[in-house]
Amino acid sequence: MIRPILTYPNPELKKKSLPVTVINDALRELARDMAETMYDAPGVGLAAPQVGVHQRVIVIDVSAKDEPPDLITAINPVIIHAEGEAYEEEGCLSVPQFAANVRRHARVIVKGLDLEGVERTWRAEDLLAIAFQHEIDHLDGILFVDHLSPLKRELFQRKARKAAGEAR
Ligand code: NI
Repeated sequence: MIRPILTYPNPELKKKSLPVTVINDALRELARDMAETMYDAPGVGLAAPQVGVHQRVIVIDVSAKDEPPDLITAINPVIIHAEGEAYEEEGCLSVPQFAANVRRHARVIVKGLDLEGVERTWRAEDLLAIAFQHEIDHLDGILFVDHLSPLKRELFQRKARKAAGEAR
């Protein structure tokens, strides 16, 4: 089931998500819905708080259009190692119509659980590394625009206010 995606400045996006303690049918349904919602958007990642659920669950698929899907579902993901520098343009399904370059690590190692409750380690670089950092940020109530310089953030906020004004 496709779930509605919350967008900036919804305060739910600023809340910290809680660790998952039980992997049950409800959680598997949430993960399935998140993947469906991400593919439908379409996007390369989605975190549970973006659909209003404050649990530490993320889904990512950075495979190219001409490649088979490569869905990662990570529960309670934690970055245990990060190195290198990246500065790529990012967008977010919760921040539509805005993109900006963000400083990230180029490579990360992430630990977490899969949907079977098995501990997994993901070694990620490039786009996948950025996606992990972006989605894990969501679990802590952080949006990519929170990483921008004061000047660029002001530009973003002005655009957001203007868009909100036009919607009224
Ligand atoms: Ni996002």
